[in-house]
Amino acid sequence: MLAPGSCVQNVNPPRGGWTVHPMLTVDSLTKRFGGFTAVDRLSFELRQGEILGLIGPNGSGKSTTFNVIAGLYAPTEGSVSFMGREIGGLPPNRICRAGIARTFQIPRPFRKLSILENATLAAYFGASEPVTRAEATKRAEDALELIGLPRGEDARVDGLGAAGLKKLEMARALATQPKLLLADESLGGLDETEMSQAADMLRRIRDERGITIIWVEHIMGVLMRVIDRCLVLDHGELIAQGSPAQVTRDPKVVEVYLGSDAEQVQQHVREADAARATGGGGRA
Ligand SMILES: Nc1ncnc2c1ncn2[C@@H]1O[C@H](COP(=O)(O)OP(=O)(O)OP(=O)(O)O)[C@@H](O)[C@H]1O
Ligand SMILES: [Mg+2]
Repeated sequence: MLAPGSCVQNVNPPRGGWTVHPMLTVDSLTKRFGGFTAVDRLSFELRQGEILGLIGPNGSGKSTTFNVIAGLYAPTEGSVSFMGREIGGLPPNRICRAGIARTFQIPRPFRKLSILENATLAAYFGASEPVTRAEATKRAEDALELIGLPRGEDARVDGLGAAGLKKLEMARALATQPKLLLADESLGGLDETEMSQAADMLRRIRDERGITIIWVEHIMGVLMRVIDRCLVLDHGELIAQGSPAQVTRDPKVVEVYLGSDAEQVQQHVREADAARATGGGGRA
């Protein structure tokens, strides 16, 4: 278990303060597809209120890790414990009801339904306890408002561009009222302004709603401004973890992932750390 304060540096406590026990404990998690090992003995802990970055090269096992935590795949070996309960191998609906929601790298909304109906379905089926349709609609409207999507019954999915579809993915996840949000590449296809807004939104979700977040992303300049701590995967193995400053200077991470972008990413991290030190509050 993490000692309070270890690994997480210069992080403001969430509303209600830190809890001592980890919210999520992944212990020696392995996922194989036939003879291929996509996630290899991965262990980490996540504390309530953290925004944890999960990075690594294409095919390094990030989405597979999400898929196992969210119940799409059962672990081949190892365990996943959420709020003190083993959830490894439970079906996705039970894991969602326990309080874990995820977004998908490629949005898959119900295109024939309205934006509100999409979010309402998520609220209805993802709620931790049975809810009425009226309550599900209210939760959906609340999520859409937070994300900044239209709540009217005639607002259609078809009119949404890449940014809108990513937002809808997020709204559907939030409508289930999760304790933990797994956000998979929320910035893909967005322009600079939209990326910055999406990053601010993730931080607001944590700061205002107290939702703990694991964020998988390749856009390092944006991710590093927001996260508290970072894990780095390569070929399914955890090769580094620590603060953004620590991992972006790690020679192994530079070699397998950051490459020629390393200096620029390190500069983003320095700027974010300096902004926070001069009273910027959370990261970014
Ligand atoms: N259902 C599956 N069956 C077989 N192999 C799979 C399956 N899902 C993922 N893989 C393989 O596992 C490896 C890890 O994939 P994963 O999608 O987790 O990578 P990732 O880190 O999310 O990559 P990216 O950054 O490109 O999204 C890849 O080699 C992928 O082809
Ligand atoms: Mg992926």
